[in-house]
Amino acid sequence: MHGPKNSILKRWHALTITPARARRIWRHPYWREQGGYRDINCAHCPRFEAGRVSCGIAFGTPLRKCAASAIEAHLNDCAGMQVLEIGFGRWMLPRNLVRRSGGSWTGIDPGQPPENQAQLGRGGHGQAADIPFADDTFDMVFGIQTLEHWGQIHGGRQPSEYADCMAEVRRVMKPDGRVYLDSPQHFHGHEMFIMGDVARIRAVFDNAGWQDIVVERWRREYAPLEKYPPSAKVQREWPTEISSYSDAEVEEVRDKASVWLLTISARNPR
Ligand SMILES: C[S@@+](CC[C@H](N)C(=O)[O-])C[C@H]1O[C@@H](n2cnc3c(N)ncnc32)[C@H](O)[C@@H]1O
Repeated sequence: MHGPKNSILKRWHALTITPARARRIWRHPYWREQGGYRDINCAHCPRFEAGRVSCGIAFGTPLRKCAASAIEAHLNDCAGMQVLEIGFGRWMLPRNLVRRSGGSWTGIDPGQPPENQAQLGRGGHGQAADIPFADDTFDMVFGIQTLEHWGQIHGGRQPSEYADCMAEVRRVMKPDGRVYLDSPQHFHGHEMFIMGDVARIRAVFDNAGWQDIVVERWRREYAPLEKYPPSAKVQREWPTEISSYSDAEVEEVRDKASVWLLTISARNPR
């Protein structure tokens, strides 16, 4: 799943997927409503290739395939928008789709050197709890596999409060703008993501006053594709993060869980 061939396939996908193609793939409702959630089970996902019994995204772990699919579904129509990506890292797919569909992409990431100052239209230094842009700047703010790290204890950086981060996101967003964030469940990061505590994650958005909250659960049901258990390496970090769940709850996740992708999108009210 890693290695040069995977990198080439990932880059090729980011270079060649067009917004029009993404809109075609994801044009119909691609989820099933289940208890207030939108479930994208592998067997019914538009990216599932029944003949080969595999995912049509050719690169990456099962989690990455879901992230790519969800990006195609959510970021294919940004015409005329100012769009901010938080924690942009190195994956070109989201910014390419934003730009090709007519949006203006800006990125911030604490991994960028501080001298690379944040500026509209490019990537620079910044973090979710202190976004270096003026109020009401963006029509859309998104982040790919970054939300779970904002409040993370393990790994050196000072953890942020989720309430502070979401207040910052709202501050830089225009009224009626949309936020879109994805995060793996049962993988790593803040304890609520490791435990897959969707009610607690959603409460971060409810408590910050977001409206029209839509929660998608990608690959929670993975059959007929393979299970994706959290690796032993990832699980070694868990004790640093987990303090508010019982040993029995943690054991249950450790033994039975398959990693899946949660996406949350919501509207900034007027
Ligand atoms: C797993 S990487 C994902 C990078 C990229 N979005 C991708 O999908 O390939 C997580 C990213 O989140 C960034 N990050 C961590 N804490 C952050 C914070 N508090 N605010 C903004 N970004 C953060 C990291 O620097 C890193 O680039």
